[in-house]
Amino acid sequence: MDVLSLKRYVDARARHADARRLEELLDRIIPQPALHARFVNTLARMEYVGVRKMLKSRRAERIDLDGLQHLLDEAVHALRLKKAATALSAASTAGLGVATFSDADTLAGDAGEAYFQALDRRAEAALAAFDGAERAEANYLLTSAAIEVRAQAFYPIYEQRLRAHAAPFSVSAITKDEDRHLEEMSQRLGVVLGQERRGLEAVLAEEEALYAQFLSAAEAEVGASETDEQRRAAEG
Ligand SMILES: [Fe+2]
Ligand SMILES: [Fe+2]
Repeated sequence: MDVLSLKRYVDARARHADARRLEELLDRIIPQPALHARFVNTLARMEYVGVRKMLKSRRAERIDLDGLQHLLDEAVHALRLKKAATALSAASTAGLGVATFSDADTLAGDAGEAYFQALDRRAEAALAAFDGAERAEANYLLTSAAIEVRAQAFYPIYEQRLRAHAAPFSVSAITKDEDRHLEEMSQRLGVVLGQERRGLEAVLAEEEALYAQFLSAAEAEVGASETDEQRRAAEG
């Protein structure tokens, strides 16, 4: 499994109809700071869940320098996004606040976490041939590969829409880290998965379906907030 093979999946996702769907959704979210704050808080929550999964699944004897760096990078992503969400929320008058990662403080935050948990379970099922500590490590690599592929399809589109709307922050530093993570996962997966490479195809296909569900949940929440907005405007 070479580096190029995971990049190929990133390119396929960039051409997928869901890329256009994401752009349309972002163009509805970004102009509304209170809504945008909750969306950025959802991204922060997902980065945080990624850190928590790494801490739980990786044994000390497997953690090397890259492993520690990966943990820290994802924690920094969570922190940066949280700070951006907090600033957006403070600047808006309609915000409910983004103090926690609760569903109310996020935009489809529970759906975002459900995406992550479901992906983890699918990876677990695909790795039935592994046992004990090997399985936890293989799960980390497989789940991370799917997430990094998504991150590399998602963040560049998000950055492009942020610039188009002249938003007050950037996610380009996050994209650089995720690019490095993707390369690491590409290299390690080949070694660990061996004959189980088909598991990667299955998990990536599942990821696409789970991501579409998350987008649907976010679209529904944005639609509901727009309806509320219209009702308030009509009443006011
Ligand atoms: Fe990240
Ligand atoms: Fe990452």
